[in-house]
Amino acid sequence: MPRLVSLSRAAKLVGLSRGALQKRIHDLELQSFEGQVDLDDIEKMFPDVEIEDNHIIEDLEKIVEQALKRAHGAKLAKLLAPDSYTLAARLHSITKEHAHAKSQVKELIGLLSDVQTQISDLSKTSDTPIFFEDLNNFINDSIDKIQVPILKPAPLLEKDNLLRVMAAQVHIKNTGHEFFVDGSTTILEAGLSTGLAMNYGCSNGNCGKCKAKLISGEIKKTRPHDFVFSESEKLQNYFLCCSNTAITDIEIDAEEAGSEKDIPTQTISAKVKKATRISDDVLILNLKTPRTKRLRFIAGQNVILSRGDLAPLELPIASCPCDDMNIQFHIPQSDAPFSAYAYEEIKNSDSIHIKGPTGSFILDENSDNAIIFIAFDTGYAPINSLIEHAVTLEHAEFIHLYWVHTGEKPYMHNQCHAWEDALDNFKYQHVQYNDPTDTEQLTDIFNSLINEYSDFSDKNIYICGAKKMVKKTQEILLDHNADKKLMKHQSL
Ligand code: FES
Repeated sequence: MPRLVSLSRAAKLVGLSRGALQKRIHDLELQSFEGQVDLDDIEKMFPDVEIEDNHIIEDLEKIVEQALKRAHGAKLAKLLAPDSYTLAARLHSITKEHAHAKSQVKELIGLLSDVQTQISDLSKTSDTPIFFEDLNNFINDSIDKIQVPILKPAPLLEKDNLLRVMAAQVHIKNTGHEFFVDGSTTILEAGLSTGLAMNYGCSNGNCGKCKAKLISGEIKKTRPHDFVFSESEKLQNYFLCCSNTAITDIEIDAEEAGSEKDIPTQTISAKVKKATRISDDVLILNLKTPRTKRLRFIAGQNVILSRGDLAPLELPIASCPCDDMNIQFHIPQSDAPFSAYAYEEIKNSDSIHIKGPTGSFILDENSDNAIIFIAFDTGYAPINSLIEHAVTLEHAEFIHLYWVHTGEKPYMHNQCHAWEDALDNFKYQHVQYNDPTDTEQLTDIFNSLINEYSDFSDKNIYICGAKKMVKKTQEILLDHNADKKLMKHQSL
């Protein structure tokens, strides 16, 4: 009997990304049963997997955790442990399932033994006793096969049970997305931290924008909320994702933004959390939004920053949408009044107005092609957001970051290096250029990239930097078969 688990759960069990298992299915190495896989097949494919053998997923989780740290800070560790009610409810659910499975096995063995008695009676009067003997042996073998898995250790099954106590799985039926709710975090927090663009507004139980329909499974309220459901919504099992956690694995219908057009324009008054001059001409600005008015955006988008009478400045967001209260910007030194304020006067707790998001320099989530990100200096900012988002989503089979920079090293060189060390599917290269206005040097600058791929027709390419540089880069790559439809760019 197959022991089916979702692809996400199987990936978590063996410490691989979901994409890596998907590739095995695509390459016909692993069989899929309507999106699920058999634990026996997984055990055969990864015979050496131990419960603690999870280094790849841990590396990945470290990166996701870094992205989330700004949002949850010290609370993160606490959030990952289920509270006692959730723990008890999850254990209860697993125990029920276990008892049910045990009684089914008992009944099955009883049934087979009744069949054996019938066979034995028939064989006494039969002219072909050998046939009945063979049948009897076949049934004995079948009983052994049912009993052996109960007696022999099943590390993946044990690990699966442990995982289900610590984290429940959410399957969004209308989009097919899946994610885990660790500990007692809300379904909304868990979905956003997985990189999904779930619908929400206040995050606080007031607006009702995060409502979803529970199709199966059990949820629990994490806080009371002011939003009132209609009688018809109550009958259809509607609930608020921002105010509930998942007790068991659940299936829901929930709205997600399909494109930048689904994200409303927001106006938020945020506070300066930290402004750090990371190099002579780059300043990293971290803003914090109010808890009840966070910024909803898609990775790669921009916002307009303003303060008092200063001329507003449109900038790409450098942080991940999974961290919607802590927004980061990389501000180049320039003549813009906002830049002058940021470099010379800014103080912690200053109020800054954010309006947005704008722009469509966002990941193509329908494509799982390898991705090449090309950044010119602070053109890296939206690419940082896109990379964090792609890693959180386990989106691409391969990511190549090519950072063209003035100065000795890119200003976030160490972080990019750490990504390369931690992720098997991430490559980081940087190339220095001397004159950020001279497009002639670009042919040489892209030499090593072109030598590596020669044909770019099946790559999704994202380019961000000064307009002239972006245009020339596009021309060079088009000469090497890049597909215009798979190229996105943002000019600064
Ligand atoms: S986001 Fe407003 S009620 Fe959940």
